[in-house]
Amino acid sequence: MSAELKKALYNISALADLGQEITSVNAFHQKIQAVLYVITGTFLANKGAILFYDKSENRLNTLTQKGFPPADLDRVNPETLMSLGKNRPCLIGDHPGLAIAGAEILAPLWVRDEFIGALILSGKLTASPYSPEELELLNVIANQIAITISNHALFMDLSDKLEENRKLYEEMRLIYHGTLQAFAAAIDAKDAHTKNHSHRVAKYSAAIARELGWSEHDIEGIYVAGYLHDVGKLAISNELLNKVTPFTPEELAEIKKHSTLSHSITSKIKFPWKNVEDMVWHHHERLDGHGYPDALTQDALSDGVRILTLADSFDAMTTQRPYRKKMDVQTALGELRKCLNSQFDNHIMLVFCRVLDKEIKGDLPAPEILPHLDRASDLSVISSMLEGIIAELSRS
Ligand SMILES: [Fe+2]
Ligand SMILES: [Fe+2]
Repeated sequence: MSAELKKALYNISALADLGQEITSVNAFHQKIQAVLYVITGTFLANKGAILFYDKSENRLNTLTQKGFPPADLDRVNPETLMSLGKNRPCLIGDHPGLAIAGAEILAPLWVRDEFIGALILSGKLTASPYSPEELELLNVIANQIAITISNHALFMDLSDKLEENRKLYEEMRLIYHGTLQAFAAAIDAKDAHTKNHSHRVAKYSAAIARELGWSEHDIEGIYVAGYLHDVGKLAISNELLNKVTPFTPEELAEIKKHSTLSHSITSKIKFPWKNVEDMVWHHHERLDGHGYPDALTQDALSDGVRILTLADSFDAMTTQRPYRKKMDVQTALGELRKCLNSQFDNHIMLVFCRVLDKEIKGDLPAPEILPHLDRASDLSVISSMLEGIIAELSRS
């Protein structure tokens, strides 16, 4: 076999080994370490390092190395490497001013016009000097390594940016929800008898929507609607809201304005969720058209409105009001059941019962209704009542 043929075979097998490593599914650092071992083996060098240029810090970081004292690699100056030109490996012997870390061969790594880092080899195990063919092979290898590192850096950069955006969005979301909760507390504080009402309606509505299989985005929308459904009460006098004697027809008409006022307020906000203002507007509508403010019926009521209506009424029934005592959970469930088809939607009731029953049985990791119910409630009685309603509504 001629020396040229031997050389060609040697070059091809070195490239094949390298290609296998570069395209492997190994994690980046594992891959780059394996690449260095292939290269040091191919070039019979007992020392080698692959350095990555950190543009923001203007310094070279060691991605992987073998045989070099780490402090020597820390002293490598990026400007010196950049001055060597693109991906042209050079023998240090030809550049006495570049005696970096005892290196014998230096291959600056570039992708297009971007400096990526460097490959350094040293400690040749044979006495013969590196040939021009070996330098040419190293040139091809340097190009491959530069592309691999650059792709990884781009990917990491993108991942960092995505992570940064995600954190920013999450922070904004928390601030938004904090503001919303403070706002809801202001609404509920106006009426001494409805403390935390908005919070509970938001939770109950979200629980029903989740059980219905809504997307997280839409669940968040109805949660916000729950918080804001009574925001119009801010425009109604404290005296009227806190009145303990029965309302006159005029006073009742005044109170009923709150859902339209809630709509006026929320329609001025550009929510990222659809139908928030519609849900707050119509949370006192009924399927039979006897609700307010628009006496809507059946198809005019969205699922969101039907959920909010039921959640709102259930909470109103199970909490103390100036004009009546609070009901226990079983009585409230019985009331909801009595008003199916006229006021409340059958299917929403079925889903509400199902989710509450699952919460009682411990089937849901984060219950949203149960923690707000009267602690004195007999959960086994409630559960068997829920099972009965579920069986009945599932048949219809
Ligand atoms: Fe209301
Ligand atoms: Fe309400």
